[in-house]
Amino acid sequence: MKVLVIGSGGREHCLVWKIFQSLLVDKIYCAPGNGGTFEIAENVNISAEDIDSLLEFALKEDVDLTVVGPEIPLVLGIVDRFEEKGLKIFGPKKELALLEGSKVYSKEVMRKYGVPTADFRIFTEAEEAKQYVSQKGLPLVIKADGLAAGKGVIICESQDEAFKAIDSIIVDKQFGDAGNKIIIEDLVDGEEVSVLIFTDGNTILPLVSSQDHKRAFDGDNGPNTGGMGAYSPAPLVSEESFNQIIKKAFKPLIEGLRKEGKVYKGILYGGLMIKNNQPYVLEYNVRLGDPETQAILPKLKSDLVEVMLNTINESLSDTVLEWDDRFCLSVVLTSGGYPGHYEKGNQIFGLEELKNMKDIYVFHAGTKTLDNKIVTNGGRVLNIVSIGANIKEAQEKVYQAIKIITFDKMFYRKDIGYRALQRVNL
Ligand code: GLY
Repeated sequence: MKVLVIGSGGREHCLVWKIFQSLLVDKIYCAPGNGGTFEIAENVNISAEDIDSLLEFALKEDVDLTVVGPEIPLVLGIVDRFEEKGLKIFGPKKELALLEGSKVYSKEVMRKYGVPTADFRIFTEAEEAKQYVSQKGLPLVIKADGLAAGKGVIICESQDEAFKAIDSIIVDKQFGDAGNKIIIEDLVDGEEVSVLIFTDGNTILPLVSSQDHKRAFDGDNGPNTGGMGAYSPAPLVSEESFNQIIKKAFKPLIEGLRKEGKVYKGILYGGLMIKNNQPYVLEYNVRLGDPETQAILPKLKSDLVEVMLNTINESLSDTVLEWDDRFCLSVVLTSGGYPGHYEKGNQIFGLEELKNMKDIYVFHAGTKTLDNKIVTNGGRVLNIVSIGANIKEAQEKVYQAIKIITFDKMFYRKDIGYRALQRVNL
């Protein structure tokens, strides 16, 4: 089989690495890929958002399966376009990619199907939104409806912050049309966890739980980022609460949609807050998480391509996922300054040495090859991943491995997994 993976981050390198292990696969393309995918796939210089060129490429090369990493192509309707041409592609269609593409749609569907989520109201006018904030009191969460590169969710502790957020989204159009509508919702405090499922619209096949670290600095301080590290499983989620999450956060939604004639196929990612052992859905994503994937897929023993094909063919009821039950932890190495301004083009040293280390994996994100060298090419540069018998072992191994990697202005968090470690030490 020929497989095309779309995207260029750590998640996509991890996908390519896992797909490479499948006995069903002879050839992998990655569009546009990075310095890591370059080693095991053929990088194709097409942007993940250029659906016309991706389709043309897949038809020309007789690609048997396309796997979409990021959300934008899904929200743009890549699945519908490929399927119209008879191509197999993994992910939901455009109308269901709205679960991530429109927070308003997502919250309305949650309400419709009784999925536990924070109470909310929708606004299109700044004055009405401000009036609501004054009546309701703080804290509140203000969200732009559409995709906003992870920046469209603002936690407001004071009225001043809330009014500023409303003005910047609705009046100043900080996120363009993504801010035509806003959601104002109650703040649910607690600890956040990511639970992802494979579903073919009937069967729900959960992946192992995970947690990521979104803040730039140790102790979960500093600005929000795309994610500075992740681990799996999340000790926060007991077996019982995991079953509750599947029962309350996923089952009613998948069943409800199916009854409407909407068959959700692909990965559905629930970003959940756990409060008093009860799950609240903060958001759905219609794809694998980044960096969660880098902490989940190294634990998966089953053939990922087989699972994806069974999802597309609606035969997940016969599929079983097998997992390595050890602990997996991933730390993101970034270019200093990220998520603000950072340099590109700095040579990375030590990658060859890491290839020989047992239970250590390296997934590239913002890297590229230049004159046979690997150089930095983004804010999040590398994911260094380790599997260990327990959290402590995985954490120690990963930080030992990181000592071998150097590049100018390299930065990373030194405490990935600290919450998990505190929890198991309780
Ligand atoms: N780790 C957060 C995300 O993938 O959206």
